Amino acid sequence: MMKLALFAGDGIGIEVTKEAVKVLKYLLDLNSINYEIEEGLVGGASYDAYGKPLTDETLKIAKDSDAVIFGAVGGTKWEPLPIELRPEKALLGLRYELDLYANLRPAKVYDDLIDASPLKKNIVGGTDMLIVRELTGGIYFGQPRGVEDLPDGSKKGFNTLVYTTKEIERIAKIAFDISMKRRKKVLSVDKANVLESTELWRNVVANVSKSYPEVELSNMYVDNCSMQLIKQPTSFDVIVTTNLFGDILSDEASMASGSIGMLPSASLNGKKGMYEPIHGSAPDIAGQNKANPLATILSVAMMLRYSFDEDNLADYIEKSVENVIKNGYRTPDIYSGAAGLKLVGTSQMGEAVLSELKNAVHV
Ligand code: IPM
Ligand code: MG
Repeated sequence: MMKLALFAGDGIGIEVTKEAVKVLKYLLDLNSINYEIEEGLVGGASYDAYGKPLTDETLKIAKDSDAVIFGAVGGTKWEPLPIELRPEKALLGLRYELDLYANLRPAKVYDDLIDASPLKKNIVGGTDMLIVRELTGGIYFGQPRGVEDLPDGSKKGFNTLVYTTKEIERIAKIAFDISMKRRKKVLSVDKANVLESTELWRNVVANVSKSYPEVELSNMYVDNCSMQLIKQPTSFDVIVTTNLFGDILSDEASMASGSIGMLPSASLNGKKGMYEPIHGSAPDIAGQNKANPLATILSVAMMLRYSFDEDNLADYIEKSVENVIKNGYRTPDIYSGAAGLKLVGTSQMGEAVLSELKNAVHV
């Protein structure tokens, strides 16, 4: 029995999770896999109903489940709220409370989508990288933090970038383990020339690498990495980095793939995981049937692979997405206007994946 939690959240989170769940249910029913899906409100939706972005009830649903499917949170409406009540706190709270320290963000370029990338074809073609982002530490959660009054009447805002050996070791191990199944290259990204905590990061990663003699480890400063991601995205395989650097670099890497609407993610602690598209709630297009559901559909594939060892089912979904793209279906974010392309909405894209899946499963 798969115990799943479904937190659609706000904005396009609602539309994209709907398509992903449709695809998932079809596949599970077809394969007679039992599942249970419990829904919960998170983010702005939860704030509107209960006055806070993450309630104990929702957290309990997450804790009691094997995996969480998450849409997106946030919206202009909730921006004026104090930081602890903002929708984003739901996401951060779930990550922290479930100790989902390993965030996997694959960024690959589909050959048929090369035109959708703002980068030149000859530069992005063949890009296939995985960003392993530390997700429960660093400056996102470090203490002390806050905004204080100064004697002169002005204010002081501060956050703390902190990493312990143990935190670095566990995320480094994840990166090396995964790299063994890929091209056996790990790049650790830090700012060790300026920040002591990331100098420790670099040293601990080097230490962990001794247990992986087959894997080639290299290091790069984050500023240089952000440049190289644009200059030669194909040179990257596994990137392991801190919470904040991983947040920024993964958005940047998404541009190689054409659209942030294509990028799935898994946030893991062992088999337990939360699966979400890396894009946000996109209030500007919410409710208009314009959002790209593929990142969420691909996140569900990651769920089948990482939480349930259903590699075949994950492959089916990934193959179907590839075929749908090959067949020219495009939501606005990946539509180039080229001849032969079919501009579709969120639900039609979901349907297209579903019918591909039906073909694939029956061959
Ligand atoms: C992400 C998002 C979140 C983050 C926000 C919404 C809190 O940008 O998942 O990348 O900063 O981690
Ligand atoms: Mg981000």
